[in-house]
Amino acid sequence: MKKATRVFIFLLGSIFLFSGCGGGQEPQTAKTSVPLKQEITSSQFESAHTCQYCHQKIYQQWRGTAHASSSTNPVFLAEMRSTSQATGGASDEFCVSCHLPVGWLAAEIPPVDGSSLSDMAKQGVSCDLCHTITAVTGEGNAAFQLTPGRTKFGPLADPLQNPIHESAFSKLHTQAEFCSSCHEIIHPQSGLVLASTFSEWQQSVYGSRRITCQDCHMTPGPGVSKPNPGVTATGAPKVREHTWQHDLVGNNVFAMRRAGFPAHAARAEENLQAAAVLFLGLPAQLSPYQSTEINIRIRNDGAGHYLPTGLSLFKDMWLEVVCTDQSGRIVHSSGVLTEAGAIPDDTVVFGTSFADASGEETDNLWEAIKVLRDHRIPPQEYVDEFVEIPGLPLPGTLNVRVRLLHRNITLQRAAQLGISIAEVPVVVMAEISGQIKVR
Ligand code: HEC
Ligand code: HEC
Ligand code: HEC
Ligand code: HEC
Ligand code: HEC
Repeated sequence: MKKATRVFIFLLGSIFLFSGCGGGQEPQTAKTSVPLKQEITSSQFESAHTCQYCHQKIYQQWRGTAHASSSTNPVFLAEMRSTSQATGGASDEFCVSCHLPVGWLAAEIPPVDGSSLSDMAKQGVSCDLCHTITAVTGEGNAAFQLTPGRTKFGPLADPLQNPIHESAFSKLHTQAEFCSSCHEIIHPQSGLVLASTFSEWQQSVYGSRRITCQDCHMTPGPGVSKPNPGVTATGAPKVREHTWQHDLVGNNVFAMRRAGFPAHAARAEENLQAAAVLFLGLPAQLSPYQSTEINIRIRNDGAGHYLPTGLSLFKDMWLEVVCTDQSGRIVHSSGVLTEAGAIPDDTVVFGTSFADASGEETDNLWEAIKVLRDHRIPPQEYVDEFVEIPGLPLPGTLNVRVRLLHRNITLQRAAQLGISIAEVPVVVMAEISGQIKVR
């Protein structure tokens, strides 16, 4: 069969930006780090309800985040408890160190059923936890140092006085390093890097330009830092040129909807829609019976880290390709969910998966000893995928539609948790279509 002359049409934007090799398979360097444990009690911290009196808006924003609900997130709790059971409790301290930092430090966990957790520890990654962090002593694995007490540390160099707490400027809070202690997860025994959001950022153009996590995740809407003037405490006499939003949202649309925070869920959806751009390379024309390979380029335009990042094994991101002829008949498809909500085997999927000691794929973080597959898109780079589509027997038109899709919970995990997969939204991150003439 004659190969078609390949004419690329770029339907979205007109240029390919050659900003790198678009690999996505960078070797993960092994680092070993054991959480450093400070002795504290939960009574040294103040409840977010106290902060709410004066920082009402910030409280409302924080309340709907994954940080605030880390003690109630069913996906985390189920995973943490089953890992605990499988390891006879050996994983307990590790798994709760970032999710329930006060509970961990105050030795309220184990037991992993949470029956000893104080109300303070149940607030998860709370106001007072973040605003009493005074140092980060390593890269990842809860390497934060706390100085709980009357002084709250933050980004204001000239804070107004208030009767409740002292304020102190902290450069750390204005830097991405602040987030690194929890957003870099390293297996404490094998040294395997399980999640590397911080180092992905650090090695990217965002890292070299110091466009921080806060610049994207603490600003209204997706994108980099936008003007956000306001007061930081209710009734404060000083309107500041810039304030930081606390709806630190990633992509967990499902969790936020379910917890009753539609505005946060909408923001998570917007984040996903701002993350990637698709390009489609199609031959302009084919002869009858001539099959072809289409080129789909996925560029990470909006995320300051790999796409996807973090523990991507708990989520799904994949390409759906549907080709129809002029009468709408499907001539090829891949990545179309089955009725049961499964992703077909021949689908292009993105993410990192791990293998255990026997070389088998595992979704148990504790058993993971090596990376099995890592197919992701570095920030401001792209990957190319090639999909084979069959020819048409007669002259006509081939319509090609490509969508990049995302789902917050995998089918398997939803089943384990008793969640109907139909309830988990599938977000269209990006979409592109094109046509090939057959004559
Ligand atoms: C009585 C009211 C009040 C309460 C209660 C309160 N704050 Fe504040 N807070 C303020 C005011 C006023 C400012 C200064 C705002 C400004 O300068 O624009 C402030 C500033 C801050 C800052 C900025 C410090 C800096 O230098 O950057 C942080 C962080 C902070 N508060 C955290 C908290 C936390 C955490 C709680 C709950 C434990 C809390 N606040 C409770 C009134 C309060
Ligand atoms: C995940 C950590 C984290 C949590 C949780 C958190 N903050 Fe913050 N907060 C920050 C960081 C980081 C900044 C500064 C961002 C920067 O400078 O880039 C900040 C800024 C602030 C400021 C400074 C002024 C402003 O509004 O811009 C105040 C006040 C504040 N936070 C209060 C709170 C309160 C009250 C809560 C809980 C309702 C809270 N924070 C929860 C990390 C956190
Ligand atoms: C004390 C540990 C800790 C610190 C510090 C921290 N985080 Fe987190 N963060 C977590 C944990 C744990 C979760 C996941 C909670 C869950 O899903 O149950 C999380 C979740 C998130 C999410 C939502 C992820 C999703 O699934 O959508 C974003 C976005 C995020 N963090 C950003 C930040 C940024 C930006 C900073 C720094 C300003 C920061 N975090 C600091 C522990 C932390
Ligand atoms: C240029 C903007 C930008 C910067 C910088 C950035 N992010 Fe993100 N982040 C995004 C967007 C957009 C998404 C949604 C798409 C996705 O899931 O990656 C996201 C998603 C996330 C998620 C959710 C991932 C998941 O699947 O659970 C976390 C956690 C997160 N970011 C943390 C961070 C941390 C920590 C930093 C700094 C080290 C950071 N981000 C820097 C834009 C940014
Ligand atoms: C160094 C901090 C840290 C440690 C240690 C840690 N986590 Fe997490 N975990 C996070 C952060 C941050 C996120 C959210 C962003 C991401 O996916 O990286 C998260 C997300 C998760 C999620 C996905 C939640 C959801 O709703 O999708 C599960 C499940 C989870 N962790 C379980 C565990 C288990 C089990 C362990 C112990 C084996 C563990 N974590 C240890 C920081 C940590």
